[in-house]
Amino acid sequence: MKEKIEQLSREIAELKAASAAQVEELRIKYLGKKGVMTALMSEFRNIAPEDKRTFGQRLNELKNAVTEKIAHLKEELAEREDAEMEIDLTRTATQEPFGTRHPLSIVKRRIIDIFGAMGFTVAEGPEIEDDWHVFSSLNFPADHPARDMQDTFFIARNPADVLLRTHTSSVQTRVMEHTQPPIRIVCPGRVYRNEAISARAHCFFHQVEGLYIDKNVSFADLKQVLLYFARQMFGPETQIRLRPSYFPFTEPSAEMDISCQICGGKGCALCKGTGWVEILGCGMVDPNVLKSCGIDPEVYSGYAFGMGVERIANLVYKVKDLRLFSENDVRFLHEFDNAR
Ligand code: PHE
Repeated sequence: MKEKIEQLSREIAELKAASAAQVEELRIKYLGKKGVMTALMSEFRNIAPEDKRTFGQRLNELKNAVTEKIAHLKEELAEREDAEMEIDLTRTATQEPFGTRHPLSIVKRRIIDIFGAMGFTVAEGPEIEDDWHVFSSLNFPADHPARDMQDTFFIARNPADVLLRTHTSSVQTRVMEHTQPPIRIVCPGRVYRNEAISARAHCFFHQVEGLYIDKNVSFADLKQVLLYFARQMFGPETQIRLRPSYFPFTEPSAEMDISCQICGGKGCALCKGTGWVEILGCGMVDPNVLKSCGIDPEVYSGYAFGMGVERIANLVYKVKDLRLFSENDVRFLHEFDNAR
């Protein structure tokens, strides 16, 4: 028995395996129910009682040695497999699909960037407003149709006329109320108007409005800033045209057209044959507005402008139906994957 054990321990130390199947074979051979160790255990029963202690110990050691050896062979194999597997460590990890920026966010950021480069900073304000900030401070007469239920979503009629802002000019009021010039801001945000939803109108949309107030600000400054904006936004060939218009809060007021992006001014369906498309409203801030916001119109003057982000996005991306912007159909949104 002693010799058998010694021979086996030498044998075990030499064991080798080239595959997982071979390791398993060895395990069955030595540790299986009908294996070498089981056989030795039954021989052990016939050993003289005085030798049992020593042999018992040896047998246990042998059993541990086989178990360890087999575990070691398994490990070795796994390591070898890992090393043999071809892993290209320079490859990037599996790509998670990214979401996309919403086209309106892309266009809004672009507008803000262009004006930002000219020194305008961003100002924001609440969407739920009161009559003073949206209308009264901006020189709207008491009976102006924009205050009418037709256009404005009122939340409470009295006492303070709580409503959803119909333009972000309300943010300009808020800034003028507590800041003395120079003021140079753009006000991006969502606005609400009670309109029937169609391909060309929605009950909410987005605006970026701008305001510049300082000493000696003139209409020529306004025109130059808007020309620069139009060329940055729509390309260096873009022409602008200012048409006289009316807003309660500006005097004089104008609407600005740009030369049509599709036909380059020759006349097409988009520009309805005129060669021009309207993109924004603007003008010199009415002295009454400055006064009601605590700015002295004898010292300061300024200009303001306002545009719809959807309108600009339509021109940039040729989106035919305004509703696409708020339905969030991923097939539509993924068309802007590579836009910035
Ligand atoms: N607030 C106007 C609108 O919502 C746009 C505008 C802003 C016009 C500033 C002139 C000057 O239509």
